[in-house]
Amino acid sequence: MNLPDSDTQQNTSNEDKEAINREQKLIRVAVLGASGYSGSELVGLLHNNSHFKVVAAYASAQATPQPLHAIAPAIAANCDLVVHPWQESELDRLQDLDAVFFALPHETSAELAAQFIARGIKVFDLSGAFRFQSADAFRNAYGFEHPHPELFEQAQYALMEWTQLDPRGMLFAIPGCYPTAATLALKPACESALLVPDARPVITAISGVSGAGRGANLRTSFCEVSLQAYGVLNHRHTPEIAKNLHREVVFTPVLGPYKRGILATCVAELQAGVTEEQVKDIYQQAYQHTPLVQVRETPVAVDHVAHTPMCLLNVHVKAGTLVVVSVLDNLLKGAAAQAMQAANVVFGKPETAGLRGRF
Ligand SMILES: NC(=O)c1ccc[n+]([C@@H]2O[C@H](COP(=O)([O-])OP(=O)(O)OC[C@H]3O[C@@H](n4cnc5c(N)ncnc54)[C@H](OP(=O)(O)O)[C@@H]3O)[C@@H](O)[C@H]2O)c1
Repeated sequence: MNLPDSDTQQNTSNEDKEAINREQKLIRVAVLGASGYSGSELVGLLHNNSHFKVVAAYASAQATPQPLHAIAPAIAANCDLVVHPWQESELDRLQDLDAVFFALPHETSAELAAQFIARGIKVFDLSGAFRFQSADAFRNAYGFEHPHPELFEQAQYALMEWTQLDPRGMLFAIPGCYPTAATLALKPACESALLVPDARPVITAISGVSGAGRGANLRTSFCEVSLQAYGVLNHRHTPEIAKNLHREVVFTPVLGPYKRGILATCVAELQAGVTEEQVKDIYQQAYQHTPLVQVRETPVAVDHVAHTPMCLLNVHVKAGTLVVVSVLDNLLKGAAAQAMQAANVVFGKPETAGLRGRF
């Protein structure tokens, strides 16, 4: 909608004035990486969130302009927004933004964040560029030198059920999909000292192929995909999970021959004498007020959460062993929905705004 100037405003009807007021209160955002799997999900969520307005959406510089509904018809059938190629010159056009979302390769997020922050635009980054607080930890996990390590200290890690975000902050790091599934599963046990002090939880997590992104890749092409472990003992999400749980973990990711969703089986050794009842009480208490994370008594499955912003947990205890099965949609609670949840909280909106229709 074009806002009328002051001369014409006096002739505007009350209905129009209300619409103008609503428009002026909207949080103005842009999405970079909007043609990718998590970015297109995010534009879909923002488009259906009445508190936000997506003013611009971008793909890579090589892309040709396309409406989002052509890129992601299942997500954005009602969205006419055109996704344009990203050029740095666009920065000058985006001066009046409140926030930008990056659903970009880690290297690109690491490069671009400083320029938006310098313009007073909050950054919500879905990549791994700002999930660590030291240059060494970042280099070890991602294998390149971070161009802006000075931003680490202001980045807030937005695992929403376990973090109180400071809304005055400018940079929000959305956790990885595997770390979200594993951390939500094990954090209550770790925080309540239920585990043997030096126990190393063992996490085996199967992910659908969308976890690898939309770009063409032989390993993830239809005829090549098989149930297959990868990154054994050196996956970059291992240190992120260990940081979240304040202990070492053994993490094995497994590529699953399906499109979306993670099922993580998390096993840990309990302290002597810890009962099933104690463990279940602690998990129920931890997640009694978290709309997007629920503890279930019955088995949980990827199909229960695919296309939803939910994470479901199923907790078992026997003979000193804790097993928590955690399921979520890697593109939603593992990426776009968690970013939406964080932005809602940062801008003082209900935590699940724009997400309710999805569960
Ligand atoms: N997939 C998941 O399950 C998941 C979960 C959690 C976090 N993440 C993280 O979220 C980020 C995006 O992941 P994704 O799976 O959605 O990736 P994706 O499907 O491969 O999409 C990447 C997006 O970035 C754009 N892009 C690539 N290089 C660019 C550049 N140099 N400048 C501007 N735009 C560029 C691409 O545009 P074109 O289409 O033009 O190439 C595309 O829109 C990654 O950092 C990933 O680690 C992904």
